[in-house]
Amino acid sequence: MTSTESTSTERTSTERFRAEYAQVAMRSIPAPLAVLTRGEGARVWDVEGREYLDFLAGIAVNSLGHAHPAFVEAVSRQAATIAHVSNYFAAAPTIELAERLVRLTGGDRVFLCNSGTEAMEAAVKLARRTGRPRILALENAFHGRTTGALALTGKPAMRAPFEPLLPGVEHLPSTIAALEEAIGDDVAALVLEPIKGEAGVLDLPPDYLAAARELTARHGALLIVDEIQAGAGRTGEWFAFQSAGITPDAIALAKGIGGGFPIGALVAFGAAAELLRPGDHGSTFGGNPLAAATANAVLAEIERAGLVENARTRGTELRLAILGMASDLVTDVQGSGLLLGVGLARPVANRVATRALELGLIVNAAAADRIRLAPPLIIGATEVARFAEIFAAALADVERELAAESAQDTPEGAPA
Ligand SMILES: Cc1ncc(COP(=O)(O)O)c(C=O)c1O
Repeated sequence: MTSTESTSTERTSTERFRAEYAQVAMRSIPAPLAVLTRGEGARVWDVEGREYLDFLAGIAVNSLGHAHPAFVEAVSRQAATIAHVSNYFAAAPTIELAERLVRLTGGDRVFLCNSGTEAMEAAVKLARRTGRPRILALENAFHGRTTGALALTGKPAMRAPFEPLLPGVEHLPSTIAALEEAIGDDVAALVLEPIKGEAGVLDLPPDYLAAARELTARHGALLIVDEIQAGAGRTGEWFAFQSAGITPDAIALAKGIGGGFPIGALVAFGAAAELLRPGDHGSTFGGNPLAAATANAVLAEIERAGLVENARTRGTELRLAILGMASDLVTDVQGSGLLLGVGLARPVANRVATRALELGLIVNAAAADRIRLAPPLIIGATEVARFAEIFAAALADVERELAAESAQDTPEGAPA
């Protein structure tokens, strides 16, 4: 019996999973694009046995790719040793992780939690502890989905159903002029993404970070940088703020530091590290030894294998490959290292991502006209070449479809 004849294959087909999941998953969860069963390096396989090159890495999470031996060993070893102790106690991996984050970031104190949105909640509390009422954030930025982080998120459509949210938050255009106009001595913090990942990987204007540092310092406001997507080596620096040569007051981390194990952190610098007082904040799972040991192993492997430099090298190769594609659809490439956004001349990102998936490549339509790329940091020249081949084919297919559609729309004999 071939696999296509087997009833068990029918039972595990993508459609069947989708239908079953749709019955039980909260309606806020979208239908899965594919149902994945396993991964290895930068490749994953779905229930139908189809192989994909993964250029999304669980949205900038799987820094070491899938099933990396260092990740597997750390989870297994720590699970077999001691997994959880609560905040009444501590374990060596937790202390080691806090020390490692202090060393890598240049910060002073670390609050460990379980996700990006929780790191942002801690950032909100830090800002509130200044005693000042206003928090500035940027339009089109994303900071998470719990209500404090959502209040910071600069996407009105996401906030609207849940208002009233945290008061005192103002969203500014991402220009130095807008910041100069808005900032004052009553501002607790400016919160920003150094590269707007969820918006489709958009750069801030050149010198924005330096100006933001200067203006916040002048007014005694905190500069809080959300490195949840950009951090942990992805941009070709350990943390994106480092490329601007500034020192922030706090950075939020998650995603890539755990390499697939849920974890988040807020790292505070200098005087900001003293703002939270005993009892101000906590978390049952935050600093859990299992998560901490895994993050230690992931960050140590990024250091050992030179993956920050690799992100820079492969990122340059990727950017050149994309800009070299003979496609009229591509307008720009923004971002840095292995967090890149490809701008499209038309709002067809979904079609490009869908076609790429059919051809065996996972990329993400982060905005209607932007494709986000966030592959594992371990990719080599082979994966870049394979990506370029499939992505160019997907673009060409969509361009052909668009040309055919516009030919259909043009009445015969009329000028095109
Ligand atoms: C920049 C940024 N901030 C915050 C978050 C929220 O993180 P999480 O989904 O882990 O809560 C994300 C997630 O995509 C993000 O990209």
